[in-house]
Amino acid sequence: MLGIYFSGTGNSRYALEFFMKQYDKSASVCPLTDQRIVNYINDNEEIVFSYSIQFSNIPKMLKDFVDDNKNLWNGKKIFVITTMGLFSGDGAGILARRLCKYGAQIQGGLHLKMPDSIADEKALKRPLEKNKMLVKAAEEKIKRAVQSIKCGNPPQEGIGFLYHMAGLFGQRLYFYRKTQHYTDQIKINAQKCIGCGKCAMQCPMNNIHIAQNTAKASKRCTMCYCCINICPQQAITLLGKSVVQQGTIEKYL
Ligand SMILES: Cc1cc2nc3c(=O)[nH]c(=O)nc-3n(C[C@H](O)[C@H](O)[C@H](O)COP(=O)(O)O)c2cc1C
Ligand code: SF4
Ligand code: SF4
Repeated sequence: MLGIYFSGTGNSRYALEFFMKQYDKSASVCPLTDQRIVNYINDNEEIVFSYSIQFSNIPKMLKDFVDDNKNLWNGKKIFVITTMGLFSGDGAGILARRLCKYGAQIQGGLHLKMPDSIADEKALKRPLEKNKMLVKAAEEKIKRAVQSIKCGNPPQEGIGFLYHMAGLFGQRLYFYRKTQHYTDQIKINAQKCIGCGKCAMQCPMNNIHIAQNTAKASKRCTMCYCCINICPQQAITLLGKSVVQQGTIEKYL
């Protein structure tokens, strides 16, 4: 069994690792950016995906990977986990439907509420203790889901027509343009940046490079929010004007 994650602040990675600890300790877990990922997928019939929801949609990088590798999915048995700050009607269903189109068999879906990763927006910012409680609640939900899977009754969150309608009309139609393309909206404050290179090292799209001791961004940002949450100078923003609250999963464990 193989687990694949796309994760900006670590929520979806943590959820997948926790899931695998309960479900199949022998499973491998790797990021979407792993160089050998295509080989791993070829070698495994059962796959669990875990990713963060973006405006009730899947991150562009993950969508492109699935579409660019259409031939990988035929006959695969796939379970989908999505993490979110508050709500997604069919977070798991969006990827599930895409994979189904390429011949995969969808086993089920699980939605997990986790700390919000949009570090430069005030909305959804919770106190530390509340975020810790969210992670604990997610762990309990994962344990229950694994029990259900083992009993042959996997959860079906986000899968099916009603969820589809909730995702589409609840948010996705309204925000569609935000997730259709890669974004060029990353802003790096050159006055604050100390050229440490942390952002460039962690960016899954190699969208940031260091030149003359300052970080510079290109136009292929997949909005994972990793760089914004880890910059020691709070020098990076995307949707908002300034960094309000940084956090990665380690802070909440
Ligand atoms: C660009 C962007 C859009 C988001 N949109 C939503 C959303 O529509 N609904 C929601 O509940 N959470 C939303 N979130 C919050 C994340 O889905 C959530 O914090 C997730 O657990 C982050 O997981 P990660 O650390 O694995 O990236 C959004 C986050 C980002 C960065
Ligand atoms: S992490 Fe922040 S300070 Fe470090 S190079 Fe990137 S923008 Fe500059
Ligand atoms: S530039 Fe930042 S937010 Fe955009 S993909 Fe890279 S790490 Fe993620």
